[in-house]
Amino acid sequence: MSEEVFARRSENWFRLKGKHGFIYRERLRNQGYAPDVFVDKPVIGIATTWSELNPCNGHLDRVAEAVKIGVWEAGGFPLVFPTMSLGETLMRPTTMLYRNLLAMEAEELIRANPLDAVVLLAGCDKTPPGLLMGAASVDLPTLMITGGPMLNGRYQGKTLGSGTAIWKYNDEMRAGKITQEEFFNMESCSARSNGSCMTMGTASTMACVTEALGVQLPGSAAIPAVDARRYSTSQLAGRRIVQMVHEDQKLSKVLTREAFENAIKVNAAIGGSTNAIVHLLAIAGRIGVTLDLDDFDRLARDVPVLVNLMPSGKYLMEEFFDAGGLPVVMKEIEHLLHTDQITVSGKTVKENIADAKCWNDDVITPASNPFQKAGSGIVVLKGSLAPDGAVMKISAASPELLVHTGSAIAFDSIQDYMAVADDPDFDVTADSILVLKNSGPKGYPGFPEVGNLPMPKKLLDQGVTDMVRISDARMSGTAFGTVVLHVSPEAAIGGNLALVQTGDVIELNVPERAINLLVSEEVLNERRAQWKPLPAHSDRGWVKLYVEHVQQAHLGADLDFLVGASGSEVPKDSH
Ligand code: FES
Repeated sequence: MSEEVFARRSENWFRLKGKHGFIYRERLRNQGYAPDVFVDKPVIGIATTWSELNPCNGHLDRVAEAVKIGVWEAGGFPLVFPTMSLGETLMRPTTMLYRNLLAMEAEELIRANPLDAVVLLAGCDKTPPGLLMGAASVDLPTLMITGGPMLNGRYQGKTLGSGTAIWKYNDEMRAGKITQEEFFNMESCSARSNGSCMTMGTASTMACVTEALGVQLPGSAAIPAVDARRYSTSQLAGRRIVQMVHEDQKLSKVLTREAFENAIKVNAAIGGSTNAIVHLLAIAGRIGVTLDLDDFDRLARDVPVLVNLMPSGKYLMEEFFDAGGLPVVMKEIEHLLHTDQITVSGKTVKENIADAKCWNDDVITPASNPFQKAGSGIVVLKGSLAPDGAVMKISAASPELLVHTGSAIAFDSIQDYMAVADDPDFDVTADSILVLKNSGPKGYPGFPEVGNLPMPKKLLDQGVTDMVRISDARMSGTAFGTVVLHVSPEAAIGGNLALVQTGDVIELNVPERAINLLVSEEVLNERRAQWKPLPAHSDRGWVKLYVEHVQQAHLGADLDFLVGASGSEVPKDSH
């Protein structure tokens, strides 16, 4: 390819003599750059998931401008590039079908271009993990900036939390407690500004988790999207990423096993989303860190839930930021963290949180008097119904249902359930267990957030607001209920979940971490012999590739051929 090989990646494009260098420099100069930008300036890619189809990320173009200022100030050369954006509210059948596609695209774009480092701009649920997975496979110096939460929702004196309010008031409307018109009126007040869901849903969880991993600047995860400090922090991030090139602070130096352990503990302390499990497993797989589902239960057992935010508590991200944000949480559980771990700030966790102070201990409670006791976050369940595991968020569940044996009502699809959910003759009681199949990674396809099946109207009318629900699906981080998720192996590949029939008895015992289908092995073997896989979802394109290669939930649902880093070696030149 080139006459010489240079140490910094971008020099192998821009320092070349002859026609190669001419082509690389000449075309960029049509943007009006002075010739000296190609000399001695690290090239910083700014990967943005801005899109008008993803309103949660609709302000990332402005964030990108702030990063560019910082990069220029520090002597770098910033170049913004778009990646696919995954808008949680608009995309069908589910954004999770495309997380790995975003990761694959980001990986290839980062590797194929003359970049020395990359800043990842993300927000809505799948965009932080998708970008980080892709970047992890290339392993350049990498810094993430999440877009921040929306302002709090307000309606007639009530606080509306993203998602959480929808689930709650939809059930109230179905039970006749509020009118359709009132429900409609809430629309205009629940998303008041740019930004992501302002509950501790998946977007806020992943923002906090990436800060805990050390790939976001400390204190930045919770800054509201429209707060001026989001932009000034982004400018500082632009300056910092240039230094990271000079320090050769690659992503693999930050994303160590210790960093993942910190993130798991922080996820427990914030009462974070179950989705963080799938995403952290996938990111770890890309960077070559060994992590498994049991780590999430084992490492979180001693961690109390400190953050009193919806859906588990009552406040929202704005109050969380005002109370001091994530550094306060990390300071409270400092004794449980690997505080020598280096982060993108260039400092250790210990240095990052040294000055953290809590300004409202009802929002971020002290570890000595926590919002919920240790082990109230996410648990991993195993047993004959989920030999490879299932997960449950206790902080969002009903304590009286954590040990429960009941009779299953089984559904092959969410559509089958919705067809009877409002039927007054639906044969269901508060003790029944709703079982949903074929909603895992391969089954739907794409692992949708349908695990929190709406309560049957018949029970809502009786004043019952929760019951045990089990599926191979995921659940929105904004949702709540006694909901067992991510059952693995999933029904679509013939896991025992596929064999459940209405009337079977299921035993849930959270303290024992057990979930068992109380049906004899002999009967299960007979059913297994009769079981047939679902017809193929598609014989073309991405869906075909995805279904053929997606891994099970307990492995992170990445594509099997994308696990592991492939590095940042400069690709061959074809000019
Ligand atoms: Fe985009 Fe919740 S829908 S962050």
